[in-house]
Amino acid sequence: MGPVALNTAADLLERTEELALLAECLDSVRRESRGRVVLVSGEAGVGKTALLRRFCDEHGSSARILWGGCDPLFVPRPLGPLLAIGEAAGGELETVVGSDVMPHEVVAAFARAVDGPTIFVLEDVHWADEATLDVLRLLARRVETIPVLVVATYRDDELDRTHPLRLVVGELATSERVTRRKLSPLSPAAVAQLADPHGFDTDELFRKTGGNPFFVVEALASGPDEIPATVRDAVFARAARLDPVATRLLEAVAVVPPRGELWLLEALDEDALDRLEECLGSGMLESAPGSVAFRHELARLAIEESISLKRKVDLHGRALAALSDPPRGTPDLARLAHHAEAAGDAEAVLRFAPAAADEAASLGAHREAVVQYARALRFGDRLPAAERADLLERRARECYVTDEYDHGMAALEEALEIYRALGDKRREGDVLRQLSILLWCPGRIEEGERAAESAVALLEDGTPGRELALAYGALAMYCKDSRRTEEAIAWGRRALELAEQLDDEQIAVHTLATIGLCQVDYELLVQTVERAQRAGLVAQAGRAFALFAECAVENRGHAIASKYVGPGVEYCSERGIELYRLYLLAHRARLELDEGRWSDAADSASSVLRVPRTSISPRIFSLVVLALVRARRGDPGHRALLEEAWALAEPTGELPRLAPVAAARAEAAWLAGDAAAVVEATESALSLAIERGSAWWSGELAAWRRRAGVDEQVPAIAAEPYALELAGDWCRSAELWFELGCPYEAALALASADEEQSLRRSLEELQRLDAAAPAAIVTRRLRDLGVRGLPRGPRPATRSNPANLTPRELEVLGFVAEGLRNGEIAERLVLSRRTVDHHVAGILCKLGVRTRAQASAEAVRLGLSGR
Ligand SMILES: Nc1ncnc2c1ncn2[C@@H]1O[C@H](COP(=O)(O)OP(=O)(O)OP(=O)(O)O)[C@@H](O)[C@H]1O
Ligand SMILES: [Mg+2]
Repeated sequence: MGPVALNTAADLLERTEELALLAECLDSVRRESRGRVVLVSGEAGVGKTALLRRFCDEHGSSARILWGGCDPLFVPRPLGPLLAIGEAAGGELETVVGSDVMPHEVVAAFARAVDGPTIFVLEDVHWADEATLDVLRLLARRVETIPVLVVATYRDDELDRTHPLRLVVGELATSERVTRRKLSPLSPAAVAQLADPHGFDTDELFRKTGGNPFFVVEALASGPDEIPATVRDAVFARAARLDPVATRLLEAVAVVPPRGELWLLEALDEDALDRLEECLGSGMLESAPGSVAFRHELARLAIEESISLKRKVDLHGRALAALSDPPRGTPDLARLAHHAEAAGDAEAVLRFAPAAADEAASLGAHREAVVQYARALRFGDRLPAAERADLLERRARECYVTDEYDHGMAALEEALEIYRALGDKRREGDVLRQLSILLWCPGRIEEGERAAESAVALLEDGTPGRELALAYGALAMYCKDSRRTEEAIAWGRRALELAEQLDDEQIAVHTLATIGLCQVDYELLVQTVERAQRAGLVAQAGRAFALFAECAVENRGHAIASKYVGPGVEYCSERGIELYRLYLLAHRARLELDEGRWSDAADSASSVLRVPRTSISPRIFSLVVLALVRARRGDPGHRALLEEAWALAEPTGELPRLAPVAAARAEAAWLAGDAAAVVEATESALSLAIERGSAWWSGELAAWRRRAGVDEQVPAIAAEPYALELAGDWCRSAELWFELGCPYEAALALASADEEQSLRRSLEELQRLDAAAPAAIVTRRLRDLGVRGLPRGPRPATRSNPANLTPRELEVLGFVAEGLRNGEIAERLVLSRRTVDHHVAGILCKLGVRTRAQASAEAVRLGLSGR
């Protein structure tokens, strides 16, 4: 047995490494003034809290400490842990946290409040409410700019597959500023060291405790005669040494987690409070100013379980009464709702649960809101029908945000029944409209559109109002997504007209974005983003960004897309608008793919695929991008991705979801040399694209058929570069693709040639892109032409550069730095003057500069050009 590592004279064993890691992180925060995040995980009782207490003790004199903990409430109070921190920090942070604001505003206030090295401890985030988790996530995203060491602890043995913390940890894990550390139980040597003075059989102790420090400490505290088999025994053994009145105090504390305020305990059991001293002395409870708490949650649970039902109901009833009228501050609605239900007090549940839910929703703690509405609805049969239906609608709205579509739809169906029975047509129509929106995300298109149509029909019968405008908007959306553009615009106009009459900015902005996409009107879309931001309509601004990105990417408006997709992702990230953030990331992935930045594209797509959500569109787009990168590079695994994408997209029958998958499947079939599969993959999508008048998709799908040797007619509407290639003018087509900044498509166009020069250029471009699979096809063609001595295999991957310039742009930039004019560059590179103009404009944009001189200077600074 090796020596036992002792950190200090006190009793923290085998944590030297962890303390050193934390100290090193704190040091780097001090040195660089840039924050770090450490996630400390481990089973219950392994010593997470003890580690951080020690760390903060050691560094409390040189750093400011902000300590907050999450509580083991069934439905935690939104932002609860931050209230304590706000109180400790004072100033603006306290005001902001206390005043019903969204998580991103809390983070902004936090950033302003940190003015020197700070250690921010957030304990037990496996119990965190959603708003607090959002704060953690948003804080981690911008931690680089705040000199804070964030340390969050959680029990990793309590996270089931769907636990929201999993998503957060998954997302944070990809950041270089985030470190994860899992604490292990103690070794047999350490257990022996703890047990020695007590004369225990240490082998037996280790066997029964697995080295978990909490179990060990409890076992030791319960006496040397026996080793309790479970922690419950350990806790009871300790409690059994108290007298019965003191035990009643333990019970009272156990029903009011996380801690019992003294005034509250007095209301629960006045006599028992006299025994406080005794309970503290036993080590079961610990005190904080004005309150006491169990030293350990496992112990609280064990005691709570042991209370008789009658006494439990009585204690909860007393807690409810006392908490309704606290000696200071306002009543805590989440706590009241909890005790009301535990006391079986239906009337109180119906008073407090909906209010707690509304409060949670307004703070962005949507999961908590969902649960509180459910709690209220469990007692809902006591409510008048209309009130019950209203609660159901509110619950459905929250389910939509938390991605619990099935529950949301069930709630709406129930509400629908009620309104029908009541004969309330206006509400019935509005619920149908909401239902249509929930149905769209998982791809239940036919039902959804029917619901939207019924909503319009019902509502047009009554006085036109907000509900009707929303229903027009929903129908416009359905038409837009199947690219029945004229229809979409017509419904949109009606929605807009009504919105203007009603002076309803939200509906107006929603509709304008829909129309902007249909008309491919970038200016309108940008204006809509700005208009939504001005009106403080955060979610609508996110949606407008997402529609803008969809429009620009689908229509190959790369320059303008590059300008807005990044800011859109940032806008949604900072504000926690997760759904639209996913859409934007998926569109960004496509943009990166089309611009030849495939590693970035694969990263963006993977980050979408890591997030399980019911909405299928971002997933479809990302599966396609990742599959294409793999197929083109000749990497395995693209087939399964495309199969999943097709299985999701096909049943929707919607062009924007279908066409990209169909085209990707055709490409994979072409790369595999399977012409029949190309035909099959494109069959239905091509007719749909022509029917819907889609220039880009009809061109793309037809082009794959032609490349596979199927003599395809040029669809009259095909976009220019495709039309040219299909008509045999591949040279001009390639040039157009280069101008659009799409090197891969340009290489494909060149690959249609039957002469050496173009095929060589195609091969060169493909090798630069690391596109091994099509490069092999072009190489075969060249060999068939009798060309020998071709470079083998792919060249090393494209040099990465900080401004993400394409190889061609780097070349052009080199000449710009030499002082050449565009005409001269065109001559050198044998390109058209226009193409060079485009390249130079693209370079200025990517480098974020306005003049050629600035571009040269920037290029030198970035090491892109030595001249
Ligand atoms: N390294 C250690 N050496 C000795 N004792 C320890 C060590 N770590 C923890 N302990 C003791 O074990 C008990 C449980 O530790 P602690 O409360 O820190 O666990 P935890 O991981 O925070 O548990 P939970 O997940 O329940 O919050 C405490 O009594 C603590 O003093
Ligand atoms: Mg702990």
